[in-house]
Amino acid sequence: MNKKSLEISAIEFKNIIKDILENETVKQMNNYRQHYDTSCYEHCFKVAWYNYVLCKKLKLDYVSAARSGMIHDLFLYDWRVPQPGRKRLHAFRHPRIALNNAIKLFDLNEKEKDIILKHMWPLTVVPPKYAESYIITLSDKLCALQESARHYQKSKAFRYAYVFLSLLVIRIF
Ligand SMILES: [Fe+2]
Ligand SMILES: [Fe+2]
Repeated sequence: MNKKSLEISAIEFKNIIKDILENETVKQMNNYRQHYDTSCYEHCFKVAWYNYVLCKKLKLDYVSAARSGMIHDLFLYDWRVPQPGRKRLHAFRHPRIALNNAIKLFDLNEKEKDIILKHMWPLTVVPPKYAESYIITLSDKLCALQESARHYQKSKAFRYAYVFLSLLVIRIF
């Protein structure tokens, strides 16, 4: 994708999810961490972007993929903090929680519902019904990996390990 088409795509992407970005409940995702120092909002925005790019490239329904990507983790709590009345096993339960929250705020089609509900597959056993739901299982994991790597790159231990491995590689070759 060249710079011009990337700019056009970014504008189209933001127009597709404009009403979701402006929703007050969705904005509150900025207050909750998802992976390390990445907020839930930032994570969802990135997953939505990857969904959009991949689905557009594959000639799939990039509108549903982008919209559901932005709300696939729509839960307003820090999942690391145990709360009375909230059941554990967040990884298994939050797709249903996000879907229940999302349908109160937006008019979702069947594909969008499936994308949100199945985004943790294969951790949640029931497989996706649509190609776009498989795409989010990739986008979500890719973003989680990037967010974790970004966090560890900041740590001293990571930098020392990187220098050590670089020296080792230089010595071997
Ligand atoms: Fe999730
Ligand atoms: Fe996610």
